[in-house]
Amino acid sequence: MDLNEARDIINRADEQIVAALKERMRAVTEVARYKQAHNLPVLDEKREEKVLERVAAMAGDDMSDMARELYKHIMALSRDYQTKMLGRDGKIRLLVLNGPNLNMLGIREPNIYGKKTYADLTAYIRAEAEKLGADVEIFQSNHEGALVEKIQSALHHFDGIVINPAAYTHTSVAILDALKAVALPAVEVHLSDVSAREAFRQVSYAGMACEKTYAGHGFEGYKLAMEYLCRREEKHD
Ligand code: DQA
Repeated sequence: MDLNEARDIINRADEQIVAALKERMRAVTEVARYKQAHNLPVLDEKREEKVLERVAAMAGDDMSDMARELYKHIMALSRDYQTKMLGRDGKIRLLVLNGPNLNMLGIREPNIYGKKTYADLTAYIRAEAEKLGADVEIFQSNHEGALVEKIQSALHHFDGIVINPAAYTHTSVAILDALKAVALPAVEVHLSDVSAREAFRQVSYAGMACEKTYAGHGFEGYKLAMEYLCRREEKHD
């Protein structure tokens, strides 16, 4: 076997190892949630010893020590991960995204969007999130790519997305694809009742990746969306 062939094999093995690690960490997240719900400590020495014995046996005589050492590291990393997860006090983490021109609230078409400003909206969202016991991050951009990147970066950092894509609602397949890619539970919000407006507002691409839409409730739509995501999370815990 030449060097390149051997390296190809190593690369393929690494792909499998990383995929398996990711799957393991997903299951660890479930264990962390269970432990939290049942007030159990992160460290379970007996379970860890069993895992070490099992992997050592699987690895066979010549590699059993290596397997043990490797799994000691993996389980230490898992514990850190679980501690971090539990450290957020079980709070649901929500990302609220606002698209173009919403920063102009209060000035833009007040007959449609009202007189309250974007700062009023963010203060409202923060106050409602606090009442729900949720952690919230709010992000507004006039740029499609910035919204796509924010959605992508939400993976593993947020439990749900509330999105008012504004005008991109009706045009952006990129935002739809980003929401589908991260596959986080998402809820669409519109301040105005888009269903009663122009024909071009009747299509919502982002909405196709959302579990719910609240339109025409003004600021309250954001509260309804956050409530929905919190209730949904409770059911899944
Ligand atoms: C909006 C509705 C969209 O059609 C429009 O382009 C917006 C705001 C709303 O919140 O009502 O910018 O998303």
